[in-house]
Amino acid sequence: MVLSKSEVVDVLKGVIYFAKGDNIVDLGMLDGLELGEGSISFRLVFPRTDEPAVNIVINSANKALIEAFGEDIRIDIKPVSEKEKGRGPLSGVKYLIAVASGKGGVGKSTVAANLAIALARSGAKVGLVDADIYGPSIPMMFGVEGQQPGVFEREGKPVIVPIEKFGIKLLSIGFFVDTNKPLVWRGPMATSALNQLLSDADWGVLDFLIIDLPPGTGDIQLTLAQSYSVTGAVVVTTPQKLAFADVKRAASMFNQEKLHIPLLGLIENMAYFTPQDAPDKKYYIFGKGHGERFASELGIPLLGQIPIVEQITEGGDSGNPIALDDESPVARSFADIAHTVRNRITAILLQK
Ligand SMILES: Nc1ncnc2c1ncn2[C@@H]1O[C@H](COP(=O)(O)OP(=O)(O)OP(=O)(O)O)[C@@H](O)[C@H]1O
Ligand SMILES: [Mg+2]
Repeated sequence: MVLSKSEVVDVLKGVIYFAKGDNIVDLGMLDGLELGEGSISFRLVFPRTDEPAVNIVINSANKALIEAFGEDIRIDIKPVSEKEKGRGPLSGVKYLIAVASGKGGVGKSTVAANLAIALARSGAKVGLVDADIYGPSIPMMFGVEGQQPGVFEREGKPVIVPIEKFGIKLLSIGFFVDTNKPLVWRGPMATSALNQLLSDADWGVLDFLIIDLPPGTGDIQLTLAQSYSVTGAVVVTTPQKLAFADVKRAASMFNQEKLHIPLLGLIENMAYFTPQDAPDKKYYIFGKGHGERFASELGIPLLGQIPIVEQITEGGDSGNPIALDDESPVARSFADIAHTVRNRITAILLQK
């Protein structure tokens, strides 16, 4: 009997790992699938191999394969732990997306927050890490300042439970420190804080984990690129040439051979001004067409243009990101950007 990998994968998609609420294929647990003459062998990657669910999942996989391909098929399934596989605690995260810019104040956090909301509203499971260790802003943007994430123990190690708001899992250094005091971190402390937010937290199963980066090309960006498998970066700029000079530096850092993080595209923030009482008007106060030009210079798509509108500042200050407002054209722009980001990821992963 000649089997094809896609037939086997389809059958295995019917096997659910209840602890994570999805099937073993989409959870990325399937590893090393080999087909022989009448035989199927593969490994299944579990968080731990000593949990009772391991046998249950293996039995259901065996049963599903026999039902599909008949009694005579030989099946060999080996459970392995994430640790043996060298997979980190982010193994339940499908896509890790960085929101970056070389420049401060261009709207990275605004874009990260609203992109997270737009993705969640399109049905995805989304988390957001505020990796701006030096100036965290996500707690305020989501109106969860002063909240304290829970902590529990797993295998003798503390695990942080992200705060949830608008269906998004959030973590920020701002939950752990007094943000009214200046945060003075030395490089290694900052990177260890980032590692804790990413690796020592219970992110569970997510389609997207968005990372809001601090400005520039420092330790945080470097650690992220070197230690984590980042799916791609969304780069934010404003229409001024000076801003773009810094953005280009950040883009070329991600493009370096050793670090290589694919650039998903550019977002031109503050592209034009739209007054609150004239939502159809567009005033290009910094000139028109910069976004397109910058994007083509970087050789990446322009994912979208976001106007300067009062509601964005107000929404950010009051914990109500604009992407939640169905009436707002900006919310529609973020929904379109979310859609394009998904398509870009698929295109980039297909190229690999
Ligand atoms: N399109 C916009 N229209 C109006 N206000 C905006 C817009 N984008 C961002 N802002 C406001 O500008 C300020 C800076 O934005 P934001 O914090 O998102 O930038 P940032 O790039 O993350 O900054 P930092 O480099 O400090 O992390 C915020 O007060 C935000 O509300
Ligand atoms: Mg920011």
